[in-house]
Amino acid sequence: MRGKKNGFMDNRTFTMIKPDAFAKGYSGAIIDKIIQAGFKIVALKMTKLSAEKAGEFYAIHKARPFFQELVDFMSSGPIVAAILEKDNAVADFRTLIGATDPAKAAEGTIRKLYAASVGENAIHGSDSDDNEKIESDFFFSVLERF
Ligand code: CMP
Repeated sequence: MRGKKNGFMDNRTFTMIKPDAFAKGYSGAIIDKIIQAGFKIVALKMTKLSAEKAGEFYAIHKARPFFQELVDFMSSGPIVAAILEKDNAVADFRTLIGATDPAKAAEGTIRKLYAASVGENAIHGSDSDDNEKIESDFFFSVLERF
């Protein structure tokens, strides 16, 4: 634990195993890699986003040319959503997953190992503590966190 920001602890991050990685059967291997990297799973569920919900989750990208492609892809099949705990969780998890574009991701990162393209990039990780809170609240009630 490193401290508090806006009243929330900064030792958590939110992740989603995206429909491409789920469909290819990589969920187990990815979860194992996350645990081996020292993250504790505090919430976990398998679910499927409607197009409306995917658009809501990625509303920040609404003006981007790839928004519709992103919404179509993210609502195309099941995903695994999770909240993870570790010191410096947001930054350390982004290091573990690698660059958004798997072609630019470092060796050994989750995207380098399991992602096919910038659009279908296997996994999401929060980019800030504030967004971790928003994203975790989008998927999980307090009764689903341990
Ligand atoms: P993610 O980290 O989940 O957050 C936004 C997502 O938009 C990103 O991963 C990519 O999957 C997607 N994205 C970013 N750039 C592009 C792009 N040029 N074309 C398609 N999808 C993109």
